[in-house]
Amino acid sequence: MKNNTTRNKTVRLTEEEKRKFEKNLLTLSHNVKPPEILNKIINQNLFDVLNFLPEKFVDLLIIDPPYNMTKYFNSLIFNKKSIDKYADWVDSFLKKLIKILKPTASVYFCSDWHSSTSVHLVLSKYFKVRNRITWERDKGRGARYNWKNNSEDIWFCTVSKTYTFNTNDVKLKRKVLAPYKDNGEPKDWVKQNNGKYRLTHPSNIWTDISVPFWSMPENTEHPTQKPEKLIAKIILASSNKNDIVFDPFLGSGTTAVVSKKLHRKYVGIEIDKKFACIAEKRLQLAENNKRIQGFVNGYFWERNTYPVEKK
Ligand SMILES: C[S@@+](CC[C@H](N)C(=O)[O-])C[C@H]1O[C@@H](n2cnc3c(N)ncnc32)[C@H](O)[C@@H]1O
Repeated sequence: MKNNTTRNKTVRLTEEEKRKFEKNLLTLSHNVKPPEILNKIINQNLFDVLNFLPEKFVDLLIIDPPYNMTKYFNSLIFNKKSIDKYADWVDSFLKKLIKILKPTASVYFCSDWHSSTSVHLVLSKYFKVRNRITWERDKGRGARYNWKNNSEDIWFCTVSKTYTFNTNDVKLKRKVLAPYKDNGEPKDWVKQNNGKYRLTHPSNIWTDISVPFWSMPENTEHPTQKPEKLIAKIILASSNKNDIVFDPFLGSGTTAVVSKKLHRKYVGIEIDKKFACIAEKRLQLAENNKRIQGFVNGYFWERNTYPVEKK
């Protein structure tokens, strides 16, 4: 068996790399126009940047803020608040982000079950809330006197009734358990190498996405990194090539990296320099590697089925 050191693919930064990548980061001190910030990471507190951003330039806004729990994000501690105070905090940045959106823009907002209902109320003040996606994470700490928490919510909203939704770009390739036939012919499924598969329409329950872990090349030291596969679904469904994707809590850079891999433009804000530099390193790696784990030949595969198919 190979040892864990050789199989561990976590993206890490040397001091030299940090010095190199921090040169790419922006800080804003005046109003900017879109070309000045496209495909850039702004390394600042979101609240110090909001007033400088251009109007009506974003096609897709992806918001993955600190959830309402006490958590260390390297140089920053986010402190758990009452649900009402958390909703006030969400409102305080959301109302200032509206001006950056095109009238055709979509917005996705990530949340845990605990604050999700209050986030919904804030979102519905400003947007048309279209759906709540539930992501079934495959990890979660067991609880002795409660149900193990194994899900996160992602609210899908739009600014208006005109918006992009590319259903055919986010189909799921599922193994068929009951391969019915019609006149001897497969009914809605195909036989491929080792298995029988059906392409299904994407639903609002996402069960095919794993949390990044150390043997995956996308993994970083960020404590709450989103999987590339999850962000790829959002970007493919709700934007087109060359559209502008904006992420005000960029973290380890997943939104920027997936935007690059899928030929969209990005703008990200991240307060912590180390995370912003890790994002820059991932963007550099994406120059030569456009692979998104679990998304192959234009389809999303159920957890762990693509490797089986390949064998
Ligand atoms: C939940 S994480 C986002 C993770 C990200 N989606 C990823 O895949 O890596 C939230 C991030 O927001 C950053 N953050 C928190 N408050 C911020 C603020 N006021 N301005 C900018 N970034 C902030 C944290 O440092 C953290 O990296």
